[in-house]
Amino acid sequence: MAEPNPYAPGDIPRFLAGRDNELARIEVVLDRVADGGPAGAPLAFVAPRGLGKTSLLRSAEDLALPKGYAVAWLPCVKGQPVLADLVSAVERGLDQVDITPGTALPRWESLRLEVGGHGLRASSEWVRRKEDETSPGRVLATQDLLRSASRTVRGRGGAGLLLCLDELHAPALGETGVLLNALQALAHERDLNPLVVLGAGLPSTPGHLTSAATFAERWEYAELPALDAGASARALVEPAADAEVRWSAAGLGLAESYANGYPYLLQLVGAAAWDVAQPSRGEEIRAPHTEEGWQVAQARLRTLFQGRWDAATAGEQAFLTAMAAAGVPSVPRATVAAALGVPTSSISQTRASLINKGIIARAGHGQLEFTLPGFAEHVREVTGEGG
Ligand SMILES: Nc1ncnc2c1ncn2[C@@H]1O[C@H](COP(=O)(O)OP(=O)(O)OP(=O)(O)O)[C@@H](O)[C@H]1O
Ligand SMILES: [Mg+2]
Repeated sequence: MAEPNPYAPGDIPRFLAGRDNELARIEVVLDRVADGGPAGAPLAFVAPRGLGKTSLLRSAEDLALPKGYAVAWLPCVKGQPVLADLVSAVERGLDQVDITPGTALPRWESLRLEVGGHGLRASSEWVRRKEDETSPGRVLATQDLLRSASRTVRGRGGAGLLLCLDELHAPALGETGVLLNALQALAHERDLNPLVVLGAGLPSTPGHLTSAATFAERWEYAELPALDAGASARALVEPAADAEVRWSAAGLGLAESYANGYPYLLQLVGAAAWDVAQPSRGEEIRAPHTEEGWQVAQARLRTLFQGRWDAATAGEQAFLTAMAAAGVPSVPRATVAAALGVPTSSISQTRASLINKGIIARAGHGQLEFTLPGFAEHVREVTGEGG
């Protein structure tokens, strides 16, 4: 009987490959804070879409829970305020370790009101007056909320509170500023707070946070790289091995070359090859399965590519067209400028916005590359230039 598909395109992977360094770095902080030491600056992982930021934060959560942390998980939403969601995230995190905020923290309800407004998602109530957003009262209340939540976990014999902030490039600036100010103030308190803050977002995250509060410059930002060959292989082999299914060397090599170290594509091609092979225990996924699966996977990718293309401005599309026309993996900036018939200096703004959107990335020595393999071909197709 065919085994269930173990790959997770667009979901948390069954096996997180190649992130040992990042997890070790996170574990050092978790252990230090659990031992009563300082947390240091918040650590945020930045990378284009699909590189595995959320998956890494989820693994950090898995590390933290058995160490006695309560985990508050806050996915930021584009253009939306964060504080009401912060309150709910902290409540859920406490609840998960059997702490009922209202009974454990006498001031909880009043903090909840001060921080989260009405605590309701009624859309009219999200609209706050500007001066209200950064009022010192809300910073203090946010500070109180995080301080008392983390200390309560510690007081109950746990380690502290881990706050995971995902999609940090996105939230509305006003309340993000309140949160950043509160975190900054907590870090400077004489008594240590057992609070660890991890973040993740697109490459525009540092700029976004810094425009919400300048001291966000002093956060630590770590770029999440693509997976190397060994990690790519493990991302494919390990989930299959759980079901006693093997990859042939040729099948694996092909899948690796399609995905090019890009975690989302590894899951996508893995899942597609599996669906073609329908392997039972003891069977093997071979090159023809991978090849046929890749055809199916590409249809899904085209939708993703088209979404990115449609979301680009006319200027960005011209830039992408010039890059795709170069027909090489790493394109010098000067080549793009020449194709557009403008000086190199005048493309820097468009280049920056495409990098911030995670569509292209710097490739060293003034070169640029597409973050998603296959995107260049797609651009050539939609623009009818070769391809
Ligand atoms: N280290 C890894 N090993 C194996 N698969 C991974 C790894 N990291 C991520 N993936 C897979 O890649 C895909 C994208 O992962 P994830 O959603 O974590 O990326 P992301 O950077 O948060 O993307 P986005 O910016 O769109 O939120 C998922 O299908 C996930 O299963
Ligand atoms: Mg994510």
